[in-house]
This record gives sequence, C-alpha cells and structure tokens, in this order.
Amino acid sequence: MPIQNVKGTHDIIGAEADVYENIENLLKHIATVFAFKQVRPPVLEHSEVFVRGVGESSDVVRKEMYTFEDKGGRSLTLRPEFTAGIIRLMVQNKILSNNELPYKAFYLGPVFRYERPQLGRYRQFNQFGVESVGHDSPVNDLEVIVLAYVILQSLGLENVTIKINTLGDEESRDNYRGALKEYFASHLEKMCPDCHSRYELNPLRILDCKVPEDQEIVKGAPKMSNFLSTASKERFAFMLKSLDELQIPYEVDEGLVRGLDYYSETVFEFHYTSKTGNNYGAIGAGGHYDKLVKELGGPDLPGVGFSFGIERLVSVLSDDGLVNIEEDEGVAFYVMPLGIKSQVEALNIANVIRMLGYATDMCFDDVKLSSMFKRAEKKHARYAIILGENEINNNEVIIKDLSTQQQTTIPMDILEDRCIDLMSQEHQCDCGCEHDGDEHEHHHDGECCCGHHHK
Ligand code: HAM
Repeated sequence: MPIQNVKGTHDIIGAEADVYENIENLLKHIATVFAFKQVRPPVLEHSEVFVRGVGESSDVVRKEMYTFEDKGGRSLTLRPEFTAGIIRLMVQNKILSNNELPYKAFYLGPVFRYERPQLGRYRQFNQFGVESVGHDSPVNDLEVIVLAYVILQSLGLENVTIKINTLGDEESRDNYRGALKEYFASHLEKMCPDCHSRYELNPLRILDCKVPEDQEIVKGAPKMSNFLSTASKERFAFMLKSLDELQIPYEVDEGLVRGLDYYSETVFEFHYTSKTGNNYGAIGAGGHYDKLVKELGGPDLPGVGFSFGIERLVSVLSDDGLVNIEEDEGVAFYVMPLGIKSQVEALNIANVIRMLGYATDMCFDDVKLSSMFKRAEKKHARYAIILGENEINNNEVIIKDLSTQQQTTIPMDILEDRCIDLMSQEHQCDCGCEHDGDEHEHHHDGECCCGHHHK
C-alpha cells in the first residue's frame, strides 16, 4: 500500500490551492490597509514559549502540543498557535522598545495541534491572524475587531455571529476563580478526571468542559459578571457601546472563556453555520491579553489579536458557494519538439517565451504531432510552437494559432517580437474602446472590460 499522509493533515492541490491563496491574499491585503506589518516567526519554538505563554492549564499545552527533544536535548514544539511566538519575536527583537506603539503585526502559516480529527478540525491547519501590541486603550481592541469584521464582510460572510465576553482584569479573575473553586468543590466528585486537574490548575477551564453531565453542573456556576472590578466593568461597557456606534453586531456570551490562558478583559469568537447546516466551530477567535508580554520576558505591556482558521474559512465559503474556483486559464504557448534531439532547443525556446511573462509548457515525450496537439488542447494552449530538425537547421520555428488553425514559419530571431504581437492582439478588441494592449483587462469568464467576449 502506498504511504498515506499523516492523520489529521490534508493535501491542498491545484484549484483548491488557488482558493487558499486568493483568500490569504485578501486577508493580507486588508491587514496591510489597516497598517499591520507582516512577521514570519519560525514554526519551531522552545517549548517554554507555549508552556509559559499559552499556559499550563490549557488543553493545548496539556494535551495537544507536538513536542519533542531535538538531537541537542532541547525541548522544542511545533507551534500550536501564533500569539506566544509572535510576542517572543517582538521581545527578542526589541520591537516594542524601538517602535511607536501599538506595534501591529499580521501573520499566516501552519499550526499543529494533536486533536481528534473531525469536521473542521485538523492536526495541521493554517491560521491567519494579527496582534496589536503595546497600547492599553480599548480602542485598540476595537480596531482589531473591526478588522476581523471587515475581513468577514469582504469574504461575503454576512451572517457571522460575533460572540463577545469579558474575563476582567487580574483582580476580577482572582475573585472569580475563588468563587468557582468554592462552587465546584461540592460537585467535583461527580465530574470527569480532566475537571479534577482543571480544578487544581485553573477552575475557569472547567467552564469549557464538553462532558454533558459536567455541562449541567457548569450551568449552575457563578457568573463572571458578578466578579468584575469597576475598571473592567467600565471597559467592557465602553466596548459594547462603541461596537453599537460602529454598527458591528454582537452577542454577549457569558460562557465564553476561551481555551488559552493568556486572555484578560475582552474576548471574542466568530461563529458561522453554513447554509448547508455544517457547523465547523469558530472560524476565528481572539482577545485582549495583559500579562503575556511580561511573562515572555518583555516589558509590562498589553496586546490584543485574533486568528482565523483558514481551513474553516474555505469550508464555509465553499459550502455557501462563495468560492470562485477559477477556470484553468491554461498556457499561452505549447512547444512541440519533433524528435528527442529537438527537446533541449524546445526547452530553450520555452524559456525565452517564459521570460516575456507568458505561461509556456512543452511536450517531454517523443510522440506523434497529432498526439502533441491533443496535449496542447488539454492544456488550453493558445499557440503551438513546432520545432523539428529542419526548423532548427534553418533557424526557424512554426507558430500555429490553435483557434484559427493558421500557421506560419518565422525566423527564430523574431520569435520574441512575434509572441509579444500575438499576445497583445489577444487583448485588443473591435469594440472601439480606448483601452489597448495590457490595459485591456480580461476577466476569468472571458469577458473583457469593454463587455465583449474574446477568446
Ligand atoms: P484559537 O481559538 O485556539 O485561538 O484558534 C483560532 C482559530 O483557529 C479557531 O477559531 C479556528 O478557526 C482555528 N482552529 C483551531 N483549532 C483548529 C483545528 N484543529 N483545525 C482547524 N482549525 C482550527 C488562537 O489560536 C489564538 N492565538 C487567537 C488569538 C490571537 N488570540 C489573541 N491573538
């Protein structure tokens, strides 16, 4: 049996890879317009970055990290999320002391979590996200939520539910943890073994337990809103009022605690059930954090950010018919060497045309001309370039227009000019509009900016 891909990973091929790229390019573009700068941290970090950053009580650190010892005996981890690594990068590179704050960064790439694979849940998946670090104004939190909202709107996802909650400041959470400990103490005996460790490490995590019997107990637990400090209450009220003013719809969800330990104050998640009824879980999530930068050895500065799961975005967009799978545009030229001896010269010719920027392929098999034409057709080639020994000896090539079937023999030294002429004619139309050559924009369905259809 051939070797299979690792469980929980997936191959992204051809048109689907184009879909990923288009979505990623849109997200990157919008983040750039919001004045975020790209950063690219390594996939591998010292495990400590996540143990200290994401927190020992989180499921991610307790159960889901791909951690191993390298040959030098160091404990390394494939990133299970970006935020802690981004803060490590900012601290190490003194970005927070050398720039005006907040420093606004965006990122994109694979992350790894050892989770049970299911709908929308992979072991290797891709995240796009942002972190705005170093400024405590709630307006920074708002800017990040607005950015996420604009991204979702631009993707065409109109009916997103934004769930929002506050975890308060440290004082609020300390008080709340105390109340939760008191409440769960009398129920703990009946609860799952995981909740026993959560009770010790961080009782807030019990609120996220998925065991149905435990969820019933969780329903009766004290609510965070009763333990908020005045400052946290005011901050959250300001957030909600401002979201109203910005006309961003939201739902306050008091049960939203997020699974990573670094959060404080405002946290949020983006939920979307596709029209087909598939629920892939949160398509993105984030929040504010106060202590993460300090925890990772930096100054005492807060931050806020979110990450989208690209696989989940692709799934909901595909389910709702919002993905443009672009037709294979094919190649402009297909070079056909007649006989093995012509192949290297054919490659040379293909390269000359490629340098002009036109997609060009060649036939690598010594097959009949008729079979080469069939291959050219499969590749949606516009022109065939035929090259036999005679042509090479005479320093010529044959160019055949595959839609009109007209062919001409031309000297090799005018090949580049001829290719440019042919390709610019492709963009000319008889509509009498003013556009010409490269300005003449073609669309994927073959319609050009003048409204005409050209091949
Ligand atoms: P997270 O909620 O753990 O947050 O993940 C963010 C998004 O990644 C989720 O909403 C989901 O779309 C996607 N995701 C998570 N796990 C999987 C999986 N196994 N398979 C596919 N997609 C998945 C974070 O990672 C935080 N770093 C977000 C953040 C940034 N908070 C502040 N800044």
